[in-house]
Amino acid sequence: MNIVLMGCPGAGKGTQSAKLQQAFPLYHISTGDVLRAEIASGSELGKKLGEIVNQGNLVPDELMISMLEGIVRSTDKGIIFDGFPRTVGQAQALDEMLARLHRSITHVLMIDLPEEEVVNRICSRKQCKKCGAILRVDAEKPVVSCPSCGGELYTRPDDTPQRAKHRLSVYRQSTLPVKDYYQGGGKYTEINGNQTPEKVFEDIAKILQK
Ligand code: AP5
Ligand code: MG
Repeated sequence: MNIVLMGCPGAGKGTQSAKLQQAFPLYHISTGDVLRAEIASGSELGKKLGEIVNQGNLVPDELMISMLEGIVRSTDKGIIFDGFPRTVGQAQALDEMLARLHRSITHVLMIDLPEEEVVNRICSRKQCKKCGAILRVDAEKPVVSCPSCGGELYTRPDDTPQRAKHRLSVYRQSTLPVKDYYQGGGKYTEINGNQTPEKVFEDIAKILQK
């Protein structure tokens, strides 16, 4: 099983990836997390990436693809691709890369979320520095540490209302066309992301168990 998990910013790709990893023997690759780790390392490459990612723009295809290939090669497990591909060029490159490795995409899952929910979701997100847990925080009842491990929580620099809106417009322009690339191939399914995380996962699990 190799899954492409698509969806706009805040659709729940990271939340559902965590649930999928608990239920199936899958390796999770979030290109956003890969980029944030490089930025946090303080490397020269990380500095350049930070300027792009923190503004909500896309990293150039060739660079993203070259960063991904080594990670894909490092595992024999089925993979969840979270946030990749994000352009038609990346989708074509992924098919070519997997073919070279005698693998292929088995499922493309699009988590749909109404646009008016995006800013709300993005601006109430916190993530744990220690265990990576993704939380939804109520502004009225702020959470100071991770309920799972007690780790420190942080807010992503691209999680401001203005950048969330910009990311959404980048998504509409560059990533929505990827839907056409996959539709019609028999692997593509849309899931209603505007339900509880548990219900979204139930819908995803039904598709994977078919
Ligand atoms: P990335 O990290 O992938 O960000 P994104 O696509 O904008 O998506 P998010 O991570 O913001 O949202 P999500 O869908 O994972 O939602 P989550 O589960 O966290 O990419 C960041 C940046 O990196 C890009 O802008 C770009 O610059 C760069 N980049 C990454 N990949 C790239 C690529 N392939 N090419 C080029 N550049 C790339 O949930 C969000 C919130 O909602 C949380 O608070 C969560 O608790 C809550 N929530 C989740 N599900 C539900 C639910 N069902 N009901 C209620 N709340 C929910
Ligand atoms: Mg994410």
